[in-house]
Amino acid sequence: MPHIIAIDGPSASGKSSTGAAVARALGFAHLDSGALYRGMALVAVRELGAGPDTPLDPRAIVAAAERNGLGLRFDGRDYTVALRGEPVGEAIRSPEVTALVSAVAALPEVRAWVNRHLRSAAHAGHSLVVDGRDIGTVVFPDADLKIFLTASPETRAERRLRQRGEPVDRAVLAEEAARLAERDRLDAARPIAPLRMAADAVPVDGTALSFDQQVDRIVALARERLG
Ligand code: CDP
Repeated sequence: MPHIIAIDGPSASGKSSTGAAVARALGFAHLDSGALYRGMALVAVRELGAGPDTPLDPRAIVAAAERNGLGLRFDGRDYTVALRGEPVGEAIRSPEVTALVSAVAALPEVRAWVNRHLRSAAHAGHSLVVDGRDIGTVVFPDADLKIFLTASPETRAERRLRQRGEPVDRAVLAEEAARLAERDRLDAARPIAPLRMAADAVPVDGTALSFDQQVDRIVALARERLG
C-alpha cells in the first residue's frame, strides 16, 4: 500500500528541501504542492498580466493553466511542475510570482484544480512525501504521518536569503522576514484551507536543528509509524 507523509508549515521553514531529503531516505517520491501554486501564479503573471493591483479572475487563471499545459511531471523519482511537459525551473521563484502566489492560492477554483492534480499523483501508486500548507488538514487527511515544520521568523528569513545567495545584512534580513510574515498572515487568514496544524500532526521546530538533524528526526518518526 502506498504511504503518504504530509509536511506542512509556514513559508521558508524548509519543507521542500526537507521533504525531498526525507523522500530520498525512505525511497518515496517527493511532491512540492507550493510549486504548483507558484506555477498557477506564473501563468497568471505571464498570460494574464496579473500583478499586485489587478483583480484576479479565477476562471481565467484555471483556463490559462489548462491552455498552457500546466501540470506535474514525474521523472521516475520526483514530481516537478511543468508547462507542456517542460519543467518550469526557477521562473516560479521570481519576486513577482512570490508576491502574487498567496492571493492566487486563496482562490477556491485554483485550490480545487491544484488538489485534483495532487490527488491524482497519489493515485499513481508511489509512496509520497507531500509538502505544503493544507496537506494534512485538507488534501490528504488520512496521511500516514503528518509533520508541522516551523522555525523562528529570523531563522527562516536567513535561510531564504542564503538559498538565494544574497548577503545577509540586518536591513535585508528584516525586509525578508516582513515579506515572509505577510505571506504567512495571508495563508493563515484565508477562509479556505488556511495554514494551521492538523490535530494529529507532530510539531517539529527546526530553529535549533541542523538540516540533517531535521531530516533524521522526520525519517525516524516515519520509520516508527510505518514499521
Ligand atoms: O517556498 P515557500 O515555503 O515560501 O512557499 P511555497 O511552499 O512555495 O508556497 C507558495 C505559496 O503557495 C504559499 O505562500 C501559499 O500561499 C500557497 N500554498 C498553499 O496555499 N497551499 C499549499 N498546500 C502549498 C502552498
